[in-house]
Amino acid sequence: MNDNVPAVSRGRIASGLRELGLGSGDSVLVHSSLSSFGYVEGGADAVIDALLDAVGPGGNVLVPTLTGTRHDGPDRPPVFDVRSTPCWTGRIPSTLMARPGARRSLHPTHSVAGIGPDVENLIAGHEDAPTPCGRQSPYYKLAEQGGYILLLGVGQESNTTLHTAEELAEVPYHLQPEPTDAVVIDYAGRRHVKRMYLHDWGTPRAFSRIDASLLELGIMRVGTIGKATVRLIRSLALLDWLVPVLQQDNRFLCKKV
Ligand SMILES: CC(C)(COP(=O)(O)OP(=O)(O)OC[C@H]1O[C@@H](n2cnc3c(N)ncnc32)[C@H](O)[C@@H]1OP(=O)(O)O)[C@@H](O)C(=O)NCCC(=O)NCCS
Repeated sequence: MNDNVPAVSRGRIASGLRELGLGSGDSVLVHSSLSSFGYVEGGADAVIDALLDAVGPGGNVLVPTLTGTRHDGPDRPPVFDVRSTPCWTGRIPSTLMARPGARRSLHPTHSVAGIGPDVENLIAGHEDAPTPCGRQSPYYKLAEQGGYILLLGVGQESNTTLHTAEELAEVPYHLQPEPTDAVVIDYAGRRHVKRMYLHDWGTPRAFSRIDASLLELGIMRVGTIGKATVRLIRSLALLDWLVPVLQQDNRFLCKKV
């Protein structure tokens, strides 16, 4: 680790993102570690502003605002209040979802929050999806509309869209076998019970094994901003490559290389 890297500014982050290929009008789902940059002037808000600068007013910045735990299931259904349930995905997501203008999906374990003109469409109906990351989820919809996944100082183990690939390939280990009646409280304070299949936490993954292939195939670009290693991934290209790989070998994402 190089301790001589100077403090990182909003402008430096925005230009670093543009150099990597993020541009005006893009949609991006961001997994992040604020501390990975070294010191950021302005903290999480500066990172969020830099992301919004990079995609411009026509673009969309989304973050995972996950709330699920390994204890969730039919015997302990999660209760999710979109207005107040904290996420465990870090300072940048929790800061973004609290901003005026941000909207958060109503999924009880895998919600996504975002700012931008298409966010409402991307998050709509997540709570009615039978599974957390499938075709009715923002993760898939973002891919479908040509969006990016951005890993800011974190590795593939944080890449939730890999669960989308697992769902599309129908791997046998990803979902709990029995559905759960989860409780969702919406922005108006109304309570809904939603029956759905939740994530199964039982199987360790080896997600970092895809890094080399993504680079080689031109699906991912890697750069550095401050001290952070930053990965920009074309989401649909990732799924187009990975789903057939998983269909051939269901355990591909569970095996260390
Ligand atoms: C868990 C995780 C969030 C921890 O990362 P982190 O950098 O330690 O924590 P955050 O991003 O929440 O940032 C807060 C930390 O940044 C640091 N920090 C505070 N102000 C800062 C600033 N101005 N500049 C830089 N770092 C700062 C502090 O260490 C702070 O931790 P503290 O509040 O305990 O003191 C990260 O490793 C991770 O996994 N992120 C991805 C999550 C995800 O998307 N998961 C999906 C799973 S499928």
